[in-house]
Amino acid sequence: MLQPPKLALKGRNILVGISGGIAAYKIPQLVRLLKASGANVRVITTEMALRFVTAETLSVVSENPVLTPFFDPEAKTWNNHVDLGLWADAMLIAPCGANTLSKLVNGQCDNLLLTAFLSARCPVWIAPAMDLDMFQNPAVQQNLKAFQNNGGHTIEPEEGPLASGLVGKGRMAEPETLAAVLIDHFCPSDSPWVGKTVLVTAGPTHEAIDPVRFIGNRSSGLMGIELAEHLARCGAQVHLVLGPTHLQASSWVETHRVESALDMLEACQHLQASCDMIIMAAAVADYRPETASKQKIKKSEASLELQLIPNPDILSQLSHQRSKDQCIVGFALETENAEAYGQAKLHKKKLDAIVINQAGPETGFGHSTNKVILLHANGQRMESPLMNKSQLAPLLIDTLAEWFYA
Ligand code: C5P
Repeated sequence: MLQPPKLALKGRNILVGISGGIAAYKIPQLVRLLKASGANVRVITTEMALRFVTAETLSVVSENPVLTPFFDPEAKTWNNHVDLGLWADAMLIAPCGANTLSKLVNGQCDNLLLTAFLSARCPVWIAPAMDLDMFQNPAVQQNLKAFQNNGGHTIEPEEGPLASGLVGKGRMAEPETLAAVLIDHFCPSDSPWVGKTVLVTAGPTHEAIDPVRFIGNRSSGLMGIELAEHLARCGAQVHLVLGPTHLQASSWVETHRVESALDMLEACQHLQASCDMIIMAAAVADYRPETASKQKIKKSEASLELQLIPNPDILSQLSHQRSKDQCIVGFALETENAEAYGQAKLHKKKLDAIVINQAGPETGFGHSTNKVILLHANGQRMESPLMNKSQLAPLLIDTLAEWFYA
């Protein structure tokens, strides 16, 4: 079986909510496991939870303050549940007792944990923990069903000895199981991208004219960023070489910022050997000024001539230097005869595949939507409808996985 990479949760923000129950004493161990997998962890507890585990322990292991009441009694500040809900990439409420479960289902919000849950846009898991008869009670079972119908996920309790002395189903799943569920969510063990390292380039390049001026283009980098994000969600180790743009990727993508085509070439060459696949979505400037003036060029009445020289074709160089199993995917942006020009580029640059997009009113640079044709060097072809780049990225990544890693 494929193993998740060591830092499977690298950069993921995980919000752990603890409700009152004896199993709360196991949550520091869960937090440690999540941290060891690279996650950022914040903990919210109910008042009752602090009877079973200390805020100090949780704060030490999570490396963050632990939040319980709506107001911080010392700083006299508001603990902002909306920010926490938006911060989280996943929320796990463990242990989740019958009382908290009932409130989650009914939208009650009389503590910080519940308000953070209502504010969260991310997937939420609960790990129920209670005595066996409570767990079997029809009211609890109905609430569990309602929670799932509302889109929540449940990590089933286990059978065994309970705090009451009874033996049966109701023990919170062990911290290792809880951590494994989150790891599998972000890094599915059957994903073909687990264990793969992918280099994605994105954005424009800026070619300096002088210290304050440059030659650039309208690329925002969005398509490449979406590809990088989706690859990371599928479990790949992702390096994003990103040109100058105001957009940025999440922290689980390793971003290498560059300015010019020469910087991008250097960064890519440095990373190439460690990568299984290279996806060149960047809009690299074809030319740069032969010399960049050290001082700002002064305005004058005379016309100004800039001598431009060609930039290296990064994609061709990487393709030339590639190892036997390395897969190289290029992009082509054309304003006419898109497929024919793209096809020619695929062969000329000796690529494994090319994504062809036609510049248009809703496609290509600066738009949130795109419509592409993906060509494989062996003749396979996939054509997308006009769609959001955030939806197109999974379609492209799934097709590449099918073509190259099935
Ligand atoms: O030849 P053309 O610029 O149309 O090819 C586009 C593809 O080549 C894109 O994948 C782009 O990232 C890459 N490219 C490059 N270096 C350049 C120009 C383009 O890697 N100097």
